[in-house]
Amino acid sequence: MAKKIERLQMNVSRKFILSDDTQFVIKEAYKAARTNLTFALATYDPKIAVVTSCAPAEGKSTNCLNLAITMAEMGESVLLIDADMRKPVQHSLLRLDNSMGLSSILGGIVGDVSKVIAKGVRQNLDVLTAGPVPPNPAELLASSRMEKLLNIIGEHYDYIFIDTPPVTVVADAFVLNEKTSGIVFVIKEGSTTHPEIEEALERTRMANGKILGFIKTNCNHKGKSGYGSYKYKYKYKYKEY
Ligand SMILES: Nc1ncnc2c1ncn2[C@@H]1O[C@H](COP(=O)(O)OP(=O)(O)OP(=O)(O)O)[C@@H](O)[C@H]1O
Ligand SMILES: [Mg+2]
Repeated sequence: MAKKIERLQMNVSRKFILSDDTQFVIKEAYKAARTNLTFALATYDPKIAVVTSCAPAEGKSTNCLNLAITMAEMGESVLLIDADMRKPVQHSLLRLDNSMGLSSILGGIVGDVSKVIAKGVRQNLDVLTAGPVPPNPAELLASSRMEKLLNIIGEHYDYIFIDTPPVTVVADAFVLNEKTSGIVFVIKEGSTTHPEIEEALERTRMANGKILGFIKTNCNHKGKSGYGSYKYKYKYKYKEY
């Protein structure tokens, strides 16, 4: 099992992470998402966005990281937390040490949070990796230690982005509802189905979750205005209910 998880982590691709080489249209789409998210979170303090999706492999981790990068580029101090303690990838995406992380703090193994947070991964961006895979991720996320952690770090960052597992598989994202501002749903074109979205929204309502918006990935789109063609388009829509 551990080997399988390790293999899955090794396969994670870094090519979708925002960088200087990312196409203009993709960077612009993330900036648009950033603007909408800024409005959606305007009334929250601290501003904590949980990023999730309906099903596995829809781009949660990649988009969570890219949103954090885009927000940090605006000069905001940002913390990215890998709270997918079942299948963590942020440390692989960013080539960070994961011998200690969120699970170490929530499990009471480490007391000083600042010792575990990777600082300055990019300008204005710190990262708390998931740590060793624990046997009880949902319980840890629901614990009072998680609440205390968010209260403490919430005072030090303008924005916190939390990567989580898919909501139709496990309820980890929802146990954070009370402790966070809301949820950003990633939807993968050609993969996420309407019934899956409906089920995820229904589960969100039942768990008293608040949806901050949606990001649609994997869109085929012919570029206009001389930017050539590009494969992935990111959309962000603000929706409140
Ligand atoms: N915009 C994109 N277009 C195509 N493939 C992508 C895109 N973003 C990410 N991927 C690829 O899709 C796969 C899943 O991405 P990612 O790990 O971000 O998804 P996830 O929803 O977090 O998955 P999991 O449910 O396993 O946590 C990875 O191989 C990643 O490289
Ligand atoms: Mg993931």
